[in-house]
Amino acid sequence: MICFESVTVTYPDAAAPTLRDVDLVVSEGELCVVLGRTGAGKSTLLGAVNGLVPHFTGGLLAGRVTVDGRDTRTHPPRDLADVVGVVGQDPLAGFVTDTLEEELAYGMEQLALPPAVMRKRVEETLDLLGLADVRSRALADLSGGQQQRAAIGAVLTCHPKVLVLDEPTSALDPTAAEEVLAAVTRLVHDLGVTVLMAEHRLERVLQYADRVVHLPGDGTVRSGTPAAVMATGVLAPPVVELGRLAGWDPLPLSVRDARRLAAPLRERLPDAPVRVLPRRETALTARGVVVRYGDVVAVREVGLDLHRGEVTALMGRNGAGKSSLLWALQGSGRRTAGSVSVQDQDPVQLSPAAARALVG
Ligand SMILES: Nc1ncnc2c1ncn2[C@@H]1O[C@H](COP(=O)(O)OP(=O)(O)OP(=O)(O)O)[C@@H](O)[C@H]1O
Ligand SMILES: [Mg+2]
Repeated sequence: MICFESVTVTYPDAAAPTLRDVDLVVSEGELCVVLGRTGAGKSTLLGAVNGLVPHFTGGLLAGRVTVDGRDTRTHPPRDLADVVGVVGQDPLAGFVTDTLEEELAYGMEQLALPPAVMRKRVEETLDLLGLADVRSRALADLSGGQQQRAAIGAVLTCHPKVLVLDEPTSALDPTAAEEVLAAVTRLVHDLGVTVLMAEHRLERVLQYADRVVHLPGDGTVRSGTPAAVMATGVLAPPVVELGRLAGWDPLPLSVRDARRLAAPLRERLPDAPVRVLPRRETALTARGVVVRYGDVVAVREVGLDLHRGEVTALMGRNGAGKSSLLWALQGSGRRTAGSVSVQDQDPVQLSPAAARALVG
């Protein structure tokens, strides 16, 4: 379905090609996950599939990319829109209408499909992506996960054979990301869409992937089954790391795999010494912190101690109040009630420069 033949992409003024002599074949109905560090060329690879690279980005593409038999050299992105749907990491940036139903219909209007077909496809897509309940909502009022599913739905209604997703969950909290990835795996399963997706949440997608494409960063590409690529020592999710440490073969790709393999390991664990970390000096103490914006209580009576030399992870859904709490602790954000103490000083009572020196 997607075929790269000796593809080399060089951006203007770049010292070296971003993609170098890449050969890659993705078959119809495959879920293919693209991995690589930042700047390794993932977006370049994805952009080359529908011709955005190089038609819109500039640069030179040598070799040949074909999608469903169409050569991107002779078919710019608009001539591939019926075959390839592209969704990026920021759904709001791509929306062209105001409500979910309008957005789902928009692409089909561009293709001048008959109204009866459009209505049917909108209904199918709402059901497929679990969005029927919010169909007439404004796009801006949807949750992050719903917006991203809406963006996927908006390209799906045109019935593309290939869906290209560039880090679709990078701006989402874990729950919303899960909804989006579950929807993607369903598409592959139920509709047979070919999906090429750059995604960091490997632990959520690896077990469903048919193929993994790894970009080591030198412009080359390695492609294979998930197990084969994971065995080469690339960045891996924790469950694969555990498998490597325990020397399991084959490597587990899901928690379920690992649980099966872990029985002998569990038997050894009760005797293993438990390491207790010494209690560290308190660096910041907060008590009863409240942040209120009008009627909305973003942070409610939060108390915590942060210790010297420790890294504390702050987790929560989109909109749960993480940033409000961070800035309230730092001192430059709003704090409606409560106390913060760092070395017996409250950052709010210091000059901005002194507060920054205390909590950067
Ligand atoms: N339009 C462009 N013009 C010039 N150089 C570019 C362009 N797009 C990307 N590059 C360069 O190509 C290289 C690969 O970038 P690319 O965006 O493909 O990487 P990526 O793997 O998607 O990174 P990230 O994980 O940050 O999204 C980088 O060095 C980048 O600076
Ligand atoms: Mg990218």
